[in-house]
Amino acid sequence: MLTAILARPDDFDGWRAAARRLAVAGVSPGEVVWQVGDTATDLLGGDDLPAVDAPMFNVPKAFIEVTGRVICHRDQERFALLYTALTTLRTRPKLLDDAADPLVRRLYDLDKAVRRDVHKMRAFVRFRDVPDPEGERFAAWFEPEHHIVRRNASFFARRFANMRWSILTPNECVHWDGELSFTPGATRADAPDGDALEETWRTYFASIFNPARLKVKAMTAEMPKKYWRNLPEASLVPGLIAGAEERTRMMIDAGDKAGMTNAAVQAGVGAWVRTGDGSPADALAALRDDAAQCKRCPLFGPATQTVFGEGPSDARLVFVGEQPGDSEDLAGRPFIGPAGQVFDRALAAAGIDRARTYVTNAVKHFKFEQRGKRRIHSKPDISEINACRWWVEHERAAIRPAVTVALGASAARSLTGKTVTISKERGRPLILADGTEAWITVHPSFLLRIEDKAAAALEFDRFVADLVAVRERLAVLSG
Ligand code: URA
Repeated sequence: MLTAILARPDDFDGWRAAARRLAVAGVSPGEVVWQVGDTATDLLGGDDLPAVDAPMFNVPKAFIEVTGRVICHRDQERFALLYTALTTLRTRPKLLDDAADPLVRRLYDLDKAVRRDVHKMRAFVRFRDVPDPEGERFAAWFEPEHHIVRRNASFFARRFANMRWSILTPNECVHWDGELSFTPGATRADAPDGDALEETWRTYFASIFNPARLKVKAMTAEMPKKYWRNLPEASLVPGLIAGAEERTRMMIDAGDKAGMTNAAVQAGVGAWVRTGDGSPADALAALRDDAAQCKRCPLFGPATQTVFGEGPSDARLVFVGEQPGDSEDLAGRPFIGPAGQVFDRALAAAGIDRARTYVTNAVKHFKFEQRGKRRIHSKPDISEINACRWWVEHERAAIRPAVTVALGASAARSLTGKTVTISKERGRPLILADGTEAWITVHPSFLLRIEDKAAAALEFDRFVADLVAVRERLAVLSG
């Protein structure tokens, strides 16, 4: 039996180096014990093993990515499971595509749990001011379920680059002072209690709270009780619930006066974006974090992750697609798969720079039917589109684009709240509830489904012509 010793519970590099040597030496999974310790790596146990200098066989990039996350799970068996998968990949390079394989299923479950924990940490960490003779400093207490502190560190460093901060957790603490550093775990007593920032968080929470959609069960699912004691806003919850009916009535009255549709008011559109002090970029970043936890409809269950919109927060042009496809679901980004490639070609032909637009979807989770190994796209229904309108409307309220383009019927439904016949509406603007223009055109995947080459080319040109009209209209609106 050989023992592979890793430096930390999330020691991806250590696992990778050890796993490579073991795999190349032909060591079977049953012959290895994986341990975490602070002893220097003493790989392959004894000196009597042959030196390994053969090159490592190739593994798919997706495996490396999954491994990077699964390593962070607290399941003791994770190292061994990953090593079994690695050795299997040698003879079955497509192993990860086999979602019915028990090992693959288990790895994907671990992966999903880690992703969720990563998102929870991003959503529920609350910094508080702490006394520091060297100047302003913030600290937060958080209890992750898995070993995700290092994995999340660069996210917080990017997001709070201008602050000096520490996040204390029971297993490991991370600090930012212009560069990241890590120290051993802390206790809750080391974390600060109460401060001026609490009021800011309370205001933010009160403004995103939408009384028209009050669902106490869902609220507690989104903000698990376990995290409540660290959250200043938790003290607001009973009061907000009590005042919910009154606020709904006031919102509807106010909306009527402003000429907004009831549906838009019910969706609480822009309420917090308008009342918040943050920039559109902050608003979008906060929305993205909130959407990562979205359980507004059942589609979050089978999907890998929320695929939120992408693009600059000051975009003048927003594109709304239907829902992420298989590739988007795995990558967490909109329109990067086959439909995305058609979309990119059409944008280029129409002279639109995608990097200057914001691209999102009417529904943020991939809806599919599992058929054998394949996940087949399945159209979102009206209730799912309606549930997700919350996000689309808030994205648009943060960005305030001059023009929004609906790609296909689901997107048109999301923007207008009605069933729209694309052939009737394409090529001219519709006015949305917020007074801005929507243009409706086909979905790029419609073009992919046309088998006849000449017909496909013709439809592609019509799609490009719609995009050119949008570009020209935008130029007019921009003066
Ligand atoms: N189809 C969509 O509508 N959106 C995507 O992100 C990908 C495919």
